[in-house]
Amino acid sequence: MNAFLNQDKRKKEEKIGRNDPCWCGSGRKYKNCHEAFDRKIEKIRLEGHEVPHRDMIKTPEQIEGIKKSAVINMACLDEVGKQIKEGMTTLDIDNIINEVTYGMGGIPACLNYEGFPKSVCTSINDQVCHGIPSKDVVLHDGDIINVDCSTILNGYFSDSSRMFMIGNVSDEKRKLVEVTKECCDLGLAQVKPWGFLGDMAEAVHTHAEENGYSVVREIGGHGCGVEFHEDPWVGYLSNRGEDMLMVPGMCFTIEPMINMGSADIYTDKENNWEVYTLDGMPSAQWEYQVLVTETGAEVLSH
Ligand code: MF3
Ligand code: CO
Repeated sequence: MNAFLNQDKRKKEEKIGRNDPCWCGSGRKYKNCHEAFDRKIEKIRLEGHEVPHRDMIKTPEQIEGIKKSAVINMACLDEVGKQIKEGMTTLDIDNIINEVTYGMGGIPACLNYEGFPKSVCTSINDQVCHGIPSKDVVLHDGDIINVDCSTILNGYFSDSSRMFMIGNVSDEKRKLVEVTKECCDLGLAQVKPWGFLGDMAEAVHTHAEENGYSVVREIGGHGCGVEFHEDPWVGYLSNRGEDMLMVPGMCFTIEPMINMGSADIYTDKENNWEVYTLDGMPSAQWEYQVLVTETGAEVLSH
């Protein structure tokens, strides 16, 4: 039944008349709006590439909504950056996220998401991602921590994360944090319309590997904006020309998890959330939420 409905929807989309209003909601005739765009995508699809569905292309109104959500998202991480220090607990970080988010009229997207019990993810050292804030987890001198914040405002989602270094961090860990940021920046530089997600992924994993690091395979980025996690799934191990075509209006995250040692990970069986490196070595992650524009990329949240 679902397949039938989808097919029906697809046919309707394809049959749009040249003089009909465009599917994008601009109010313009299809022939003067997205017709050439759709033809270009269809040509690339027929060449064997994965291409985005119309649902993945954000309208100007949606982009405005995501940007307003992102203002709160970044304010949360700015405030964490001001307050974070040795001796603090990860529950204190959760409290900051709640204060800033609710104070600015938003809702933390993590809270109750598929049963996640807190408002933010806090992942320390060998924790790869999805660390659960707790009064029992204290920040120590030399720790590196990822704070991954997601925000809902008026139904629009923003998602970004940053690393913080506590006190005197070893040169090895500092380098991991810095190289991981460089991976995101190099990936970002590859985001442009009519390129492929693999162009971005290649830049990310090449830089990580050149530095002797590995990239987590199982957990990736995602489309983001109208829902928390939308298609496409975004990996960082593919190569130039592979994975989905990027077109203006697509919004997704660049959030590679880079391990100092091997790429292997496991999930804590007690809570089914917290992910760790199998070898116990440190892992780092930064996350940017990016929009593909007519000319390149715009970072919406970081
Ligand atoms: N914020 C994470 C991401 O970047 C998702 C966390 S899901 C949660 O996609 F439930 F753990 F919050
Ligand atoms: Co994300």
